[in-house]
Amino acid sequence: MHRDYPLTLLAIESSCDETAAAVLQDGLIKANVIANQSVHEAYGGIVPELASRAHQKNIVPVVQQALQQAGLDKADLQAIAFTQGPGLLGSLLVGSSFAKSLAMALQVPLIAVNHMQAHILAHFIEPPFPAFPFLCLTVSGGHTQLVLVNDYLDMKILGQTRDDAVGEAFDKSAKMLGLPYPGGPLIDRYAQQGQSEAFRFPATDLPGLDFSFSGIKTALLYFLKAQEAQNPAFIQENLADLCASVQHTLVQMLLKKLQQASQQTDIREIAIAGGVSANAGLRAQLLVKGQELGWQVYLPKFEYCTDNAAMIAMSAYLQYQHQDFADWGISAAPRLKF
Ligand SMILES: Nc1ncnc2c1ncn2[C@@H]1O[C@H](COP(=O)(O)OP(=O)(O)OP(=O)(O)O)[C@@H](O)[C@H]1O
Ligand SMILES: [Mg+2]
Repeated sequence: MHRDYPLTLLAIESSCDETAAAVLQDGLIKANVIANQSVHEAYGGIVPELASRAHQKNIVPVVQQALQQAGLDKADLQAIAFTQGPGLLGSLLVGSSFAKSLAMALQVPLIAVNHMQAHILAHFIEPPFPAFPFLCLTVSGGHTQLVLVNDYLDMKILGQTRDDAVGEAFDKSAKMLGLPYPGGPLIDRYAQQGQSEAFRFPATDLPGLDFSFSGIKTALLYFLKAQEAQNPAFIQENLADLCASVQHTLVQMLLKKLQQASQQTDIREIAIAGGVSANAGLRAQLLVKGQELGWQVYLPKFEYCTDNAAMIAMSAYLQYQHQDFADWGISAAPRLKF
């Protein structure tokens, strides 16, 4: 792929609860706009119907803002990209319909992007770039995957979660600790003042490279119930230690499989991606492990960890160079795989 290939494109991301648009020109991100949806906070989780309605409300202003930031007009666009999946059907439909209509009106190619592949390709937005083949641990709200990345668009899943995603484990643990949704970043924050060995939770270790995060959630629930029966203020008095201990357990589970995958494949180029890759504990522990094992570690910039359209734009830029265009009949794919 050519990093200086001349192309101006608009990318739209609407797979979950973020409405985002980015403009990429000749390999560089010129605008990256995100509208978060606070409407879900009151419900302690994402309400799909409310997410679709918020996307409908946000999509036009978000796209307009992205074009304005990039100093471009829609007539300058040479391709339109969108997240085809995986994600929530209603949310994906808003982005895909918008992208299709715009591409049709402008008579430019349409590019369908896989959201999980894009999380990984976010590593190519700015240097340092991982060298192929590399391993990527993609950790987000809906997925936990160990991916062998042979080339930009040639990826293979080596292991994944059999139940909850690790982001979900963070969010559900946070909810049990009385923290608002999404609790992952709050666990991260409180953990910084706590002792990671204060409490021990059982870490499920499946054979092979698959993960399981549902056990720790149940263990935490029963542990908290037992402690609160004796001291109703237990959580309040131990919040930082609880957060640090839960985070430590989850991070160790991730790193253990990553190490196993590195040994099996003999690959020491290691990247992380997805919302949970913003976690300070994971980033720090990965760097320690990398030092210990001689890994070259790649941490994404914070703005490219959680959902964003810059990663969709980068993916589309690479797909365009392979003439990987979608036809007009393409539809949203909530369970899209790669
Ligand atoms: N600092 C952090 N520590 C732990 N978890 C975090 C942190 N920041 C974000 N997260 C978690 O990342 C998740 C959101 O990530 P992302 O936006 O990539 O997921 P998603 O798009 O909902 O899921 P997917 O990408 O699988 O479709 C949430 O579960 C959130 O709690
Ligand atoms: Mg995501």
